[in-house]
Amino acid sequence: MSQRLQGKNAIITGAARGIGFTFAKVYVGEGARVAICDIDFGRAESAAREIGDQAIAVKIDVTDTASIEEAVIKVVEAFGSIDILVNNAALFTAAPLVEITETDYRRVFDVNVHGPLFTMQVVAKQMIAQAKGGKIINMASQAGRRGEALVAVYCATKAAVISLTQSAALNLIEYGINVNAIAPGVVDGEHWDGVDAFFAKYEGKAPGQKKKEVGAAVPYGRMGTAEDLAGMAVFLASRDSDYVVAQCYNVDGGQWMS
Ligand SMILES: NC(=O)c1ccc[n+]([C@@H]2O[C@H](COP(=O)([O-])OP(=O)(O)OC[C@H]3O[C@@H](n4cnc5c(N)ncnc54)[C@H](O)[C@@H]3O)[C@@H](O)[C@H]2O)c1
Repeated sequence: MSQRLQGKNAIITGAARGIGFTFAKVYVGEGARVAICDIDFGRAESAAREIGDQAIAVKIDVTDTASIEEAVIKVVEAFGSIDILVNNAALFTAAPLVEITETDYRRVFDVNVHGPLFTMQVVAKQMIAQAKGGKIINMASQAGRRGEALVAVYCATKAAVISLTQSAALNLIEYGINVNAIAPGVVDGEHWDGVDAFFAKYEGKAPGQKKKEVGAAVPYGRMGTAEDLAGMAVFLASRDSDYVVAQCYNVDGGQWMS
């Protein structure tokens, strides 16, 4: 089968580990070059080394527009152009409503909402100047589709990602830039180890118990893996999705329907 991203250049934020790292490996397997952009530069470098020649590590802090601009300049210097952006970096947080702090609210909104909005803005300027279209994929979540008792802030950030995807898509399609999103359900990895710890704290569960419960509740019968999401990430980055605009796809083993 031909490689679906042959000759394409991609930026993936938060790609030093987890879902973003898997997307980077799969994109390179499909013929792309990938910039692994992360605030954890050391880990981004080892991630890029593990992938090989077609990956580079670039330091980015998506809460800081100047940092986003510097990262994009570096990627354009290295690759010549940018065809694909995956806005993947995010933080999780949880607390009962009466315990939410302004500091935590700002910290999480800065990464999860400022990050995708201004990374889209900086990369869209580059894509518009290149005049050959592009693909932008925002990582949303089932958490963006409905609130959860202990997860007000994170859920609100992911609802914002779905809304930003719609507005950006309707604005940028005139330049041939497709903007879409993916809403995963529960995906195993270091991120969920952190989520599990929050539920251990607030629901009095043993470590690992919440993870087992959510996995068992997925109609497919288990938690997702980053690999389970990769097919959608390739589709939305490829020509096959040229007529797909402003969508947010659930890739969740049926969880949203259950
Ligand atoms: N894992 C899940 O169950 C799940 C479910 C639904 C949605 N998602 C979404 O998928 C995406 C990836 O999730 P994951 O599980 O791989 O997360 P993860 O926590 O494993 O990885 C997030 C990455 O983002 C980086 N990052 C954090 N702050 C940053 C900043 N300011 N600038 C740049 N990089 C920064 C981290 O260093 C890390 O490498 C996220 O948007 C997440 O909200 C995950």
